[in-house]
Amino acid sequence: MITQITEIVREASLLMKKDIEDISQKGNASNYVTSADIAVQDFLYEKLRALLPGSGFIGEEGDAAFQTAEYTWVIDPIDGTSNFIRDLGLSVISVALLKDNAPYIGVVYFPYRDEMYYAKAGKGAFMNGKPIHVSDRDYAHSHLCSAMSLYDKRHASACFRIIEKVYDECDDLRRLGTAALELSYLAAGRVELYFEIRIFPWDAAAAALLIQEAGGYVEFLFHDSLPLDGPFGVIAANTKENFEKLRATVYGELKEKPF
Ligand code: IPD
Ligand code: CA
Ligand code: CA
Repeated sequence: MITQITEIVREASLLMKKDIEDISQKGNASNYVTSADIAVQDFLYEKLRALLPGSGFIGEEGDAAFQTAEYTWVIDPIDGTSNFIRDLGLSVISVALLKDNAPYIGVVYFPYRDEMYYAKAGKGAFMNGKPIHVSDRDYAHSHLCSAMSLYDKRHASACFRIIEKVYDECDDLRRLGTAALELSYLAAGRVELYFEIRIFPWDAAAAALLIQEAGGYVEFLFHDSLPLDGPFGVIAANTKENFEKLRATVYGELKEKPF
């Protein structure tokens, strides 16, 4: 099944290489959708549901069906759309397959470096056929990836407060503009800490499984399991020690559910 999914995702990525025919805003000023986002999602909708007849589908774009079943696909056709529009080379396709609403298979494809990340629950995490593991760097030597609630800036000041506290104690900060890639990098041992206050299931479902299968820790803030009707916050870290320290900082600042 994973091989078939990765083949479909790789084929879908060819649709990202065409010229962008159309860019439109959705919701608020910073949130864009392009013709490529729609083309990739439509392709995945058709191919993945044919692979698993009767499966449900949750996708980011358009009026995509929000339909769960025993097996449900959770898709971000392009994570990092803003990067994509600006040709920054930092965008991925994220595909999760849930079984009974829990992540079962996760695939994140980064076409610019031809890196295919994938994991199956209980079977480990891999990139291009090789096992991946979180790093063992301690907090002081960690890199934090984060974001400032781009699509709802009312939460930005809380993000900046938390980021500043973590930044004081860790090594450095990165904001790549694609949550799925940042979380995949955490699984692969390239960064160590992750915090985002407002994210959706399609951003995190696949990569959260990668992190767990690569030996790391993930929590959906104020939730016991992956919420399917987002938004929600996410924290993740490479080691238990780093995770608990990040968690204490984040909950210390947030105190209550932000939305
Ligand atoms: C966004 C990116 C970004 C994150 C946002 C996401 P999009 O996804 O992952 O890094 O900060 O929360 O919504 O809109 O590019 O698919
Ligand atoms: Ca996204
Ligand atoms: Ca997207």
